[in-house]
Amino acid sequence: MAPRSTSRSPRAGCHWPLAGQAAQAARKPPKFTDDQITQLVAYVQSYGGPEVPTGQLSSTDKDTIAEGGRLFRLNCAACHAFSTKGGALSSGKTAPNLNDATDKQIYEAMLTGPENMPVFANNQLTPDEKKAILSYVQAQKADMDQGGFGIGRSGPVPEGLVIFVIGIIALLFVTLWIAGKS
Ligand code: HEC
Repeated sequence: MAPRSTSRSPRAGCHWPLAGQAAQAARKPPKFTDDQITQLVAYVQSYGGPEVPTGQLSSTDKDTIAEGGRLFRLNCAACHAFSTKGGALSSGKTAPNLNDATDKQIYEAMLTGPENMPVFANNQLTPDEKKAILSYVQAQKADMDQGGFGIGRSGPVPEGLVIFVIGIIALLFVTLWIAGKS
């Protein structure tokens, strides 16, 4: 694998070309055509860049998904949350929700470590372990809604806040009611 650039200049990542230097680049459709992307990838690989496997990468085998889940919780969940729905990092940066990522994009993200994400070289996570991880990510997308009143599944913090506010208002009425009785 080619050494990573340590300069602060904008690097071509999965948001190429990057519109500007912000805390976090937003996911957007690439400006290059599929053919141009294939050509750029071939050029980088000719200099010893990371090799990305082709064909079917994810599996629906239960043991593979379970192993992928274990590896995801160890290596990825700190930033992307165990649910793969992403989360906040420091200084306005975020780790994105992985819902839109394809098998190949997940594999490439592990190999290249875009922006603030670390690189997971093949001696850290073998190609089979990478495939298990992406199988887990894809299985999470198909996961059924667990039910309950989710407030748009916006996360435990806003959901907790709503419960807190409703609780305080309810307590206020209880106190008023008790005060009114005496
Ligand atoms: C230190 C935090 C961190 C860890 C650990 C981490 N990531 Fe990331 N990941 C990020 C950040 C930040 C981005 C967004 C990078 C960017 O903006 O280009 C990202 C982007 C991605 C993307 C691209 C998403 C998209 O649709 O654009 C994928 C896929 C991904 N990560 C998968 C993984 C997997 C799989 C692991 C574990 C093997 C992992 N990440 C570990 C921080 C992390």
